[in-house]
Parts: sequence; structure tokens; C-alpha cells
Amino acid sequence: MAKAEHLKKLIASFGRTQEFRTAALRIIDDAQQQGKKPLADSLRKILDANVRQGYQTSPQPGLTTLTSQIDPATDLIDAIEVTRGLGDIVLNTDGRQLIECIIEERRRSEELRRHRLPISARLLFAGPPGCGKTMCAEVVARELSLPLYSARIDVIISSFLGETASNLRRLFEFATRTPCVLFFDEFDALARTRADTGEHNELRRVVNSLLLMIERFKGPGVIIAATNLPQYLDEALWRRFDEIVSFEAPGEREISELLVRQFANFPANFELTAFVGKLTGMSYADIERICIDAIKKAVLKKRKSVSETEFAVALRQETRRKGLTSRRSQ
Ligand SMILES: Nc1ncnc2c1ncn2[C@@H]1O[C@H](COP(=O)(O)OP(=O)(O)OP(=O)(O)O)[C@@H](O)[C@H]1O
Ligand SMILES: [Mg+2]
Repeated sequence: MAKAEHLKKLIASFGRTQEFRTAALRIIDDAQQQGKKPLADSLRKILDANVRQGYQTSPQPGLTTLTSQIDPATDLIDAIEVTRGLGDIVLNTDGRQLIECIIEERRRSEELRRHRLPISARLLFAGPPGCGKTMCAEVVARELSLPLYSARIDVIISSFLGETASNLRRLFEFATRTPCVLFFDEFDALARTRADTGEHNELRRVVNSLLLMIERFKGPGVIIAATNLPQYLDEALWRRFDEIVSFEAPGEREISELLVRQFANFPANFELTAFVGKLTGMSYADIERICIDAIKKAVLKKRKSVSETEFAVALRQETRRKGLTSRRSQ
């Protein structure tokens, strides 16, 4: 039976679509929590078929939105193409060891289960932009042969607050019945600390439900949350994750490795190591952009290799670009 207060809200919201939807979703949640899943599912179908939501679900560039209308979580995720594996990513020794360990654990999960050992299913990737958090989610999916779905945080955080917790529930149910890597980018947007003084009570409730959902999640897939603002995450969240992977800007060894990879198919005709010092402090994405720019310049000049001058020009352009973007963000 739905809670009386939710029924009252439903009747009071007559004529106001968004409010009606939220009140109806609360009633669906009630049914779900009371173990009446078939009733909850059929109510949701009726609601989705008759009461339209106020947000748009158009695909983002580079991402394929699932077209299937069958799964009730379709509007909350984007499918991401998976192409790159462990051999494509540069990681420091600790990072590589941790990621390889996680992959190995999942691949041999049956052996671990036989010994009643838990399997890591909840990962938190933290670190500055352009250092491989999203790429690593792709690598994990590829190595485990799982599809990769990115949670649409903008849609999940409904402008109509009551829907956020119920959207999250739908998403976690999806990840429980679908073997996949479910990626929560910009996780801090969802999991801001409950102590944030400016936060609405409702948001605090959302973080509480999120904590519970993460705690209860056991797979079959993997949940990966990523943030470049770990300081904003609610403290209680950290211990809900099985592993925390720190991504950092590349050191000298990683820069050299990245340069070798970037010029594997289109060579450089100068000593790459001479530039390692000048690239220190930049992210992997910045360095990758410099290499691609330099290669483009050489290709357009119809040359077979990149010269030191082309690389130096690309580096100067990137430094100028960074100067402009950092000034704009001040
Ligand atoms: N560790 C890495 N090894 C190899 N290439 C990398 C690495 N990190 C980043 N790149 C390159 O830079 C691109 C952008 O990096 P990515 O999107 O993974 O960064 P991110 O940490 O998720 O950043 P953000 O916090 O902005 O989301 C990648 O698609 C990849 O081409
Ligand atoms: Mg990212």
C-alpha cells in the first residue's frame, strides 16, 4: 500500500505534470520497497506511456543513445564505443598494478566465489582532467568484454528533485540485471558532501540513498565513478568503494612512454627525450594533442616524419592555448 502522504500529493498535483510524475514515482518506489516489483514495473510503464517527462533525451555527439524502449533505464544512460585496451593506456606502476589486479579478479571471479571471497565491483577513479579516468573505464570494459554505459548525470539530477533518487534506483537496478561497466562521470555533481550548508534537504536524502545503493551493489557488472574534485565528495562515500584509483599527471617515464606510442605509426626524426622536461606538468590529453598537431603539420607538408621544429611549434601553440583557458577560468 502506498503511503498516505504520497497518495495525497498525487491527488493534489492534478493538472501539474511534473509534480504528478514525482508523486507517482514515490508511489512506485513504495511498491518497490514493499517487494511488489511486478506492480511497480507495470505502474512505471503506465506512467511512462501516459505522462511525458520534461527533459530531452537527444544523443550527445560521439555517443550512441540506446534506442531500445524496452529497458526502463534507457533514458538514463549512453552507450559508449569501446575500442582501447590495456595496451593503449599509459599508467604509472602502481596504477597499472591496481587496474590489472581488478581485471584479473573479475576474469577469475568464479575461483574467488568458490572461496566465498568478495569481488571488487565498485571503483572510484580520482584525479585531474585529461589523465585517463574515462579512458580507463573503456579499458576495463574492453578487457572484461563488457559494454560501457555512461550515466547521464544531467538527466538523473532532475530539476524536479523528487525524481533524482528514483532515477538512481532505476539505474542501479539496470546495472544489477545487465552485465556492464556503468560509468558515473563527474560523480561529485551527484555525491556532494551532505555537510554542504547550502544543500537542500532533498539532496541530502539523495546522497543517503546513493550511499546505500553503492553499498548494496554486488554486480554482475562494475560501477566506476570518476571525479576530478575528490575534495567535494561526501566522506562516507570513500569507504563504499572496493578500490580507489588515483590518476596523476604523467611523470618523466610516462611522458616518454606516451611519446613513443604517439609516434609509433608516424615517426619523429629527432630525439623525443629532449622534450620530456618541457612537457612535465601537462596532462596526457595535452601531450597527445601536441603530438597529433605536430603529425598533422608534417602530413600537410607531405613529409614522412615529424621534425623538431614542427613539434616545438605544436608545443608553443598548446602552451598558448592553456594560458588562454586558465585565464578564462580565473
Ligand atoms: N593515461 C593515459 N594514457 C594514454 N592516453 C591518455 C591517458 N590519459 C588520457 N589520455 C588521452 O587523453 C584523452 C582524454 O583523457 P580522459 O578523457 O580519459 O581524461 P579524464 O581523466 O577522464 O579527464 P576529465 O576529468 O576531464 O573527464 C584520452 O581519450 C586519451 O586519448
Ligand atoms: Mg573523463
